[in-house]
Amino acid sequence: MSEILVAYFSATGITEKLAKKIANVVDGDLHEIHPEIPYSAADLDWMNKNSRSSVEMNDKLFRPAIANKLESTENIKILILAFPI
Ligand SMILES: Cc1cc2nc3c(=O)[nH]c(=O)nc-3n(C[C@H](O)[C@H](O)[C@H](O)COP(=O)(O)O)c2cc1C
Repeated sequence: MSEILVAYFSATGITEKLAKKIANVVDGDLHEIHPEIPYSAADLDWMNKNSRSSVEMNDKLFRPAIANKLESTENIKILILAFPI
């Protein structure tokens, strides 16, 4: 188990590829973040002001529920967070 964790969220796979490359380079562990309610293609239409992702982004206090929280972060010294926006 590494002391470096690369946690990432990726809807269409681009961020996932980069997160895997980064984890490889830094010899870190990977953790894919899954939302409790998965995003559909329509949800992710960021050009549409009324899409779920646009509405959530506009609410600065919004925190989507996570389906797979880490059991422990005790051994993690460095966290690299990758997300697609
Ligand atoms: C909610 C949301 C907002 C986005 N905002 C922008 C943006 O402002 N400018 C842009 O060029 N791309 C924007 N995008 C496009 C993503 O950054 C792009 O599709 C990304 O590479 C997807 O990565 P993924 O395959 O890991 O999900 C947005 C996408 C989403 C879902």
